[in-house]
Amino acid sequence: MHILIMEGMIIMKKKHFNRFAACTFAAAMAISAMPTACAIDTTEITSNGTVIYSFDFEDDDVSAFTNRGGNDTTVISTTDESAVSGSKSLLASGRSSSWNGPAFQLDDKLEPFTEYYISAKVKGKYYTGATFSFQYTNADGETTYHNLASLNGNDWQTLEPTKVSFTDEMTGVFVYFEGGTDDLLVDDFVVEKAPAVEIEQDIPSLSDVFADAFKVGNAITPNDLSSKATMELIEKHFSGSLTAGNEMKPDAVLNQSACQAYFEETGDDTVPQISFSAAKPFLNYCQKNNIPVRIHTLVWHSQTPDWFFKEGYTNDGEWVSKEKMLARMENYIKAYFEELIKLYPDIDFYACDVVNEAWTDGGTPRNAGEQGQSGSSNSAWVQVFGDNSFIEPAFEFARKYAPEGCKLYYNDFNEYMDGKIKAVCEMATDLKEKGLIDGIGMQSHLDVRSGSDAFPAVNIYNRALDKYSELGLDIQITELDATTTTNPTDESFAAQAEYYKGIVDSIYAHKDNISALVIWGVTDDGSWRADRCPLLFDADYKAKPAFYSIIEGREIPEKPTTGKPDENTTTTAEPIGKTLIGDANEDGSVDIADATAIIQHMGNPDEYALSEQGKLNADIVNQGDGVTGADAVALQLIEAKKIKQSDLPITMEQYNELLSE
Ligand code: XIL
Repeated sequence: MHILIMEGMIIMKKKHFNRFAACTFAAAMAISAMPTACAIDTTEITSNGTVIYSFDFEDDDVSAFTNRGGNDTTVISTTDESAVSGSKSLLASGRSSSWNGPAFQLDDKLEPFTEYYISAKVKGKYYTGATFSFQYTNADGETTYHNLASLNGNDWQTLEPTKVSFTDEMTGVFVYFEGGTDDLLVDDFVVEKAPAVEIEQDIPSLSDVFADAFKVGNAITPNDLSSKATMELIEKHFSGSLTAGNEMKPDAVLNQSACQAYFEETGDDTVPQISFSAAKPFLNYCQKNNIPVRIHTLVWHSQTPDWFFKEGYTNDGEWVSKEKMLARMENYIKAYFEELIKLYPDIDFYACDVVNEAWTDGGTPRNAGEQGQSGSSNSAWVQVFGDNSFIEPAFEFARKYAPEGCKLYYNDFNEYMDGKIKAVCEMATDLKEKGLIDGIGMQSHLDVRSGSDAFPAVNIYNRALDKYSELGLDIQITELDATTTTNPTDESFAAQAEYYKGIVDSIYAHKDNISALVIWGVTDDGSWRADRCPLLFDADYKAKPAFYSIIEGREIPEKPTTGKPDENTTTTAEPIGKTLIGDANEDGSVDIADATAIIQHMGNPDEYALSEQGKLNADIVNQGDGVTGADAVALQLIEAKKIKQSDLPITMEQYNELLSE
């Protein structure tokens, strides 16, 4: 029987969870960024789930399965050779390459932004050496593949419930079995809709709690974008700033074949070719939701391909000269910003990590060499320039090409080590005198290390903040996370909470010099250090003790309509809504619907009431004069691209000037 729609109970062991949600992302990177299990325990969890499809193939119907197209020679049928349930199973025969199917399409049957579990039994003809994989095509027509599970052994293997989801920007979304060229048998293929998860709405929003101090933001991976609950947490707590976890780094943006093709065509190998296709789902989200973006990162030794530094953009070419690399650097940075501004004129790219991790803890340049294997700490920049003299031109070019309002940062980890503090401060002082730098990004990948001293101790971290504050530059905490131990206990989480509190208190004490606090990941299981659960929310989207510790004792500042509020005005009451200047109807975005809401409200306030927060949001021209027709007109001016949302609020003079244009 298939296409059962029934409510049932899914009982799974946590250790079987394979949380995965896929999105537009270069394959290799996605695999490195794939969440791993966190806080593994064997506690049974029980949740209401819905079986959407269930195939035991007893009726010989294999119409929902295909091969993978192109040169895939797989023929799909059924067989009674072997089965797990009943007497029949699906047979994928005639497979001429290991990548050949069987495949099951998701996007023509299931909903985007919804999490599903897929489980099945699979068997190879003689030996099972199969991989369960996921494929999709992005908006630019590029197809990406991820491996989700390996199934090896004699006889039938079990694919445990494996989480998949996709965004509405993906087409041709398939799951499939591959591996070897022997026949593959599949049985008991089940698709379940994961139970809806509610995030905790009754806890304070971190952005609200720290509204008098700095923006609160996060970094997200494409996986996050198709997880409804993760994005609800982003919306509630972290909408002050977003960073792409990987997709705006050089290896995601540089396109080797396009670079080589351009070189071949023009004879010029100093104009690197780029594409933001990996970052588009992220950027589209930020644009739609008016979320300011931190650009991370332009010049880095890591996640930057070695071929970028080689003659002809080849993997094994000679290193290019310093002059050629300078030209490549300038053209890269120019193209990067020009393309971003062209594609996303409305996004507030408010900060950019121009150079990342150029100094060792001892304050010396990195060793010269290929990055090669990931994890190598060598720098190809140092290889070509001989030292850290690439830093200044990077800032020069960024200053020249970055959009207006985009502040430029030097970003690093371990910036509380003496040698590094010295090197960073000297570099920053020099760049500041030349007008090239606006701030220091402190990544802040910290370690609670239950059982021994935390690294760094809170007073050491605090001292570094003092030092950077003295520079007279802005500071942003760009990647905060604090690992605990593997297999953490309640005590580990309590120690983590205490440490987080110390660190965030120290950050808060420097708030006059700090403009953003960005956490590096939303839920523990999605972290790049998932095995040591370093974040504020757990895999079930619940606030951890660390969350409560950093808000403890703080009062929620009265919501500002613009600028920083009077720090003495606080309230402990629940926030009345979301402050977003222009968002009259409080739907989280500023658009023409807000103009309509204002006009309707003015015509018939009883029928078209605006909430108190909606009225505050709506009052954008000549703030303080309440909701007027001018506010609605100003919103239409945004739509007509005469002003940007980031220009709001405006004065009556500015308004009159705009109308007279
Ligand atoms: C990390 C990402 O989170 C991982 O997904 C990736 O595999 C490696 O890079 N410092 C930085 C970030 O500046 O870019 C790094 O991000 C974490 C350390």
